[in-house]
Amino acid sequence: MKKLAIGNDHVAVEMKKEIMAYLQEKGYEVINVGTDEEGRFDYPISGYKVAKMVAAGEVDGGVLICGTGVGISLSANKVKGIRCCVCSEPYSAKLSKQHNNTNIIAFGARVVGVELAKMIVDSWLEAEFEGGRHQRRVDMIREIEETQSLGAAE
Ligand code: RB5
Repeated sequence: MKKLAIGNDHVAVEMKKEIMAYLQEKGYEVINVGTDEEGRFDYPISGYKVAKMVAAGEVDGGVLICGTGVGISLSANKVKGIRCCVCSEPYSAKLSKQHNNTNIIAFGARVVGVELAKMIVDSWLEAEFEGGRHQRRVDMIREIEETQSLGAAE
């Protein structure tokens, strides 16, 4: 995973800048689609942009940051093919890749400090999807998604 998209809202401008610089120092190419200004910026805009880039294969993964990480992750998860997890600690971030093959990680600038955010991102980027029994379950998630896309009634 070498090319990432990053997005944020107005609450997470400073953290986005720090995480982006951190990732670039580590050799990642990072495309910034979030806001760099203090004025109010609605999180679904950047959640959607990053999610579309990941779903289209334009980048290998995404990082999303808002106040809690909740709104921006919910927005990303509305895009077909996206598995975005909001995490406040590294263990869930790592397992979300190993077991759930998440393709976007999210966290909250009002919830975690920047050093913990770096640990969350590192754990997620360094983890590998384990496949096997987990693949079957991820496939089940995709099947649910397909059902919804077709608008099929239960
Ligand atoms: C903005 O006030 C805040 O709602 C947003 O950053 C995020 O926490 C939403 O989930």
